[in-house]
Amino acid sequence: MSNFWKKLKKGFTVLAPMENVTDHVFREIMSTALPSPDVLFTEFTAADGLNSSGRDKALKKLVFSPKQRPVVAQIWGVNPKNLGLAAKTCAELGFDGIDINMGCPDKAVLKIGAGAAMCTNPLLASECIKSVQENSGGLPVSVKTRLGFNKVIVEEWASFLLEHNLAALTIHGRTAKQMSDYPADWSYIAKVVELKNQINPNTIVIGNGDVTSYTQAIDRVKQTNVDGVMIGRGVFSNPWIFETQASQQRQPIEYFNVLKKHLELYDAFYEGKHYDVMKKFFKMYIREFEGANEIRAKLMETKTAKEGFEVIKNLDLVN
Ligand SMILES: Cc1cc2nc3c(=O)[nH]c(=O)nc-3n(C[C@H](O)[C@H](O)[C@H](O)COP(=O)(O)O)c2cc1C
Repeated sequence: MSNFWKKLKKGFTVLAPMENVTDHVFREIMSTALPSPDVLFTEFTAADGLNSSGRDKALKKLVFSPKQRPVVAQIWGVNPKNLGLAAKTCAELGFDGIDINMGCPDKAVLKIGAGAAMCTNPLLASECIKSVQENSGGLPVSVKTRLGFNKVIVEEWASFLLEHNLAALTIHGRTAKQMSDYPADWSYIAKVVELKNQINPNTIVIGNGDVTSYTQAIDRVKQTNVDGVMIGRGVFSNPWIFETQASQQRQPIEYFNVLKKHLELYDAFYEGKHYDVMKKFFKMYIREFEGANEIRAKLMETKTAKEGFEVIKNLDLVN
């Protein structure tokens, strides 16, 4: 099985995994209607869920289309056996890579010792990585993590992870305790690049945290020597963030047209359910033009995609 990470050019971009954001629908939008990143990640998917009666629900998070390639399935959990079984499922589904979440600060995830809590339990982290690697069917296995749990331990933690022959390592430049209240510290990310050069030059290092433009991503590569940059929330303030040429001023109609496609795909995929997820995106498409606040308020009152279409259609602006 080929390691797609190795084929990417230095300075590549990645759309960050974001729960209830980077679902199949949004990934499809990012692959077809907006400038695409070089790599996409799924939302994190519970390994325990994939091995329970809730499997079908969990599998819905792992739907993708060929247009999204290379696409990485992100899984989380603490049970090495279940993580191994989840890796098998991801390989069977035809993903390009498997990522293990060791950075989530969500209380429910931490409570069972998963996500960022793994930073404090290296032995278990090691078992989990090995189980995923053994069951990945040769797919490249990566880890996404933070600088530490409640204090920065990135030198020990990243050194430990780098001893596991990972295909890629994403470092979000904050501890779990810092949540998003502090700016991401890229000097620690630069440190991880130095460590990987000493410990395992084969591992690709991706930096993550607070990047708000493509130009800034390239600056981060120059400053820290990371191989690639992962962008999450930046896509909300600029849906065209992965555009590599100089960014242009976008017209409201361009935003409306992407929203229209998003609503269509959403409706087809969820068959009218989970409309609240769709509402997260209205602010991304409807802003910065006269009357945007009123239109957005109307959209927020809608209860179905059909009603959403009506609001846009009545504006008489969409083709
Ligand atoms: C709504 C939301 C959901 C997220 N869900 C996940 C997730 O499922 N897996 C993960 O590894 N990180 C998750 N994250 C963290 C992001 O991947 C990323 O590390 C973080 O937002 C920092 O990057 P940014 O400053 O570019 O947004 C989430 C972040 C947000 C805002």
